[in-house]
Amino acid sequence: MASDDQKRRAAEAALAYVPEGSVIGVGTGSTVNHFIHALAQVRFKIQAAVSSSDATTRLLKAAGIEVVDLNSTGDLEVYIDGADEATRQLALIKGGGAALTREKIVAAASRRFVCIADPSKLVAVLGRFPLPVEVIPMARSYVARQLVKLGGQPVWREGVTTDNGNAILDVHHLNILDPFSLETEINQITGVVTNGLFAKRRADVLLIGTDTGVETLTAT
Ligand code: 5RP
Repeated sequence: MASDDQKRRAAEAALAYVPEGSVIGVGTGSTVNHFIHALAQVRFKIQAAVSSSDATTRLLKAAGIEVVDLNSTGDLEVYIDGADEATRQLALIKGGGAALTREKIVAAASRRFVCIADPSKLVAVLGRFPLPVEVIPMARSYVARQLVKLGGQPVWREGVTTDNGNAILDVHHLNILDPFSLETEINQITGVVTNGLFAKRRADVLLIGTDTGVETLTAT
């Protein structure tokens, strides 16, 4: 059972990966909210942050941290974000908070991706958590039919509109043995903006907060 303390431990451990004077990328979700809280205590250590969602932007600003546009920064030193599922090879499912597209952009533009999570997120095979796919609204049904052909069972996350004005399909019953290929295949479907598999750009470091400390996994 995930606890708030586990998330907080992982989030606080991520501070060690924040270089002095840098502009950092900040993800979205309850684990990241702990990170923003911890970052606020040392906010003069960084120059500014690039945010992955409107919700995170509000929290960063409320914490007194300047938020800047990715178009004005060049590549970032580090990106800190959570995950819905993670393997020991550091491939992830993300998008439970519907912020996957901006998260993927900031991750892609960052030299290092530090993922923070609690032990409930660690899995041997991705796919128990339904895979979020962001779609252009008019393509929703078309994309859903293509996802069924891939063996999934897509469910429209009704009432949710992403920060980009799009819809989310949550794809159930995928047993994702080759995350890299599936990420590529789903992104080829016309109307898909992106999907929540982070296999091409996986995490470089995974910090798992436990009841007693933090386990650190790194990409091999
Ligand atoms: C948001 C995400 C989050 O990182 C993911 O949902 C994990 O959230 P939490 O830290 O609340 O468990 O991908 O789109």
